Amino acid sequence: MYFYVVGVGEAMESRRGGPADCYREQVTNPPAPQFSVRAEARGDIDAIHALTAAAFGQVDEAELVDALRASGNGLEGLSFVGVLDEEVIAHAMLSRCFVGDVPGVCLAPCSVWPEHQRTGVGTAVIEALLAEAARRGEAFAVVLGHAEYYPRFGFTPASGFGITLHVDVPGDALMAMPLAGEVPAGALAFAPEFGV
Ligand SMILES: CC(C)(COP(=O)(O)OP(=O)(O)OC[C@H]1O[C@@H](n2cnc3c(N)ncnc32)[C@H](O)[C@@H]1OP(=O)(O)O)[C@@H](O)C(=O)NCCC(=O)NCCS
Repeated sequence: MYFYVVGVGEAMESRRGGPADCYREQVTNPPAPQFSVRAEARGDIDAIHALTAAAFGQVDEAELVDALRASGNGLEGLSFVGVLDEEVIAHAMLSRCFVGDVPGVCLAPCSVWPEHQRTGVGTAVIEALLAEAARRGEAFAVVLGHAEYYPRFGFTPASGFGITLHVDVPGDALMAMPLAGEVPAGALAFAPEFGV
C-alpha cells in the first residue's frame, strides 16, 4: 500500500499505508479549525458555567443557567453548545416562558468565550437551537438582549406583537419571533429564576 505526500505541486510516493486521496487533500488543503454544534451533555455542565461567567464577566448568568437547569424551566434538550477541539466554547439555552397562558421559549443566556467571540459560533449555536425548538413544536421565542444582534435570527420588537412586560426595558431589547406557531399578544412572564 502506498500513499502520497504532496509537496509544492508534485506528488511523492511513500511506502506507508493509508488512504491516498484523503491524505493528499489534507496536505494540500489543511482544514481550518471548525466548531461543531450539539445538545448539551452531562459532562458539559462545568465548562458551560465557566464560559458563561467568562462571557459576562460575572457569575450571575452562570448561576442562572444552573438554576434554570435544576428547576426544569430550562428545557431538557434545548440547551446547545458549540465545540472546538473538544472544548465547549459557546452555549445557548431556552427556558419556558408564557405570553398570557400561551407557552413559548425564552432564549437566554447566550455565551461565547471572549477569545472566540465574533467567529460565528454564537450564531451557529442559536440557529441550531431555535431550529430544534421549532422542530419540537414550540410556537414562539422571545429574547431580551442586544437589539442589533438578535434580528438576524428573525426576532423583531415584541411590542409589534402586542407583548407587554411589567417592567421597563430599554428600546427594542425585548424581541419575539414565531417558530412552529404564532406569536401571541399579552403579558410576558419569564421563568421565575430570571427574577424579572
Ligand atoms: C453576544 C454573543 C453571544 C454573540 O456570539 P458571537 O459568536 O460573538 O457572535 P457571532 O460571531 O455569531 O456573530 C457576530 C456578529 O454579532 C455581532 N455582535 C456580537 N456581539 C454583539 C453585541 N454585544 N451587540 C451587538 N452585536 C454583536 C457582531 O457585530 C457580528 O456582526 P456581523 O455578523 O454583522 O459582523 C457573544 O458575543 C457573547 O457571548 N457576548 C458576551 C455575553 C453576551 O452579551 N451575551 C448575550 C446577552 S443578550
